Amino acid sequence: MRTSGAASERGGDLAGRLRSAQRVTVLTGAGVSAESGVPTFRGKDGLWRDRRVHELATPRALLEEPDLAWEWYHWRRGLVNLAAPNSAHYALARIQDEVPSFCLLTQNVDGLHSRAGSRNVVELHGNIHRARCEGCGCVVPLAGEQGVPRCSTCGSAMRPDVVLFGESLDEGVVRTAVSAAAECDVFLVVGTSGVVYPAAALPGIARESGAFVAVVNAEPTPLSEVADESFVGLCGEVLPALVAQAWGP
Ligand code: OAD
Ligand code: ZN
Repeated sequence: MRTSGAASERGGDLAGRLRSAQRVTVLTGAGVSAESGVPTFRGKDGLWRDRRVHELATPRALLEEPDLAWEWYHWRRGLVNLAAPNSAHYALARIQDEVPSFCLLTQNVDGLHSRAGSRNVVELHGNIHRARCEGCGCVVPLAGEQGVPRCSTCGSAMRPDVVLFGESLDEGVVRTAVSAAAECDVFLVVGTSGVVYPAAALPGIARESGAFVAVVNAEPTPLSEVADESFVGLCGEVLPALVAQAWGP
């Protein structure tokens, strides 16, 4: 079902705007990976239902209960490794191939956009497949490790290379994301509840900079209200249809 946001005076037809756009920026959230079987945070089967997320995905847990915290992250990475990109990920990778300038900003840490062929993905919240050393700052890929990974360079305990609850995002990443929002013609928001900042501020920045803002989500969110056009539906269905409408099958 398609609804036009309150600010639809600039009219709909997202497919036409994508086709003629010079610069497209996309912001995704957990909803884009839901159809790959990766739980969202706030949905009915969301990770947040599991109290452990609150306790384990935190700097305190890593400090005081590193084994338990890492056990949860290894479990979650195992879950993600079983997942495959879905048609929404591939549709976004196709948009990147079709438009002159494209930037994908994701809140997801699952790496599925890159596996679907998206390039230069800006991972606002990091990536669950990497570990970072608190001692020397080196970042390494995680494979089948168990337990608390230790840095081979300086021997310190490592942490998941993701933004933990209560932590700030990397300043450089935020600057990149704000520029991508402020300098695009079309800003597409896909599969996010739009309640976590600074990501949730990006659609407003795009809109104030004159971009056409569209939202694709399984249910209305606060961002639907600031959008020029919003689609309520599964992104694995809406996005492929949108791309086919813009550039053919
Ligand atoms: P949420 O779980 O908060 O929101 C996911 C959104 O996707 C919800 O609005 C769902 O209705 C929608 N959704 C679910 N399945 C969908 C589908 N198949 N098609 C379209 N929409 C669908 O996840 P995020 O908004 O990504 O931060 O959460 C933002 C951040 O909150 C996460 O990155 C995480 C968490 O704290 C960190 O880990 C730092
Ligand atoms: Zn180190």
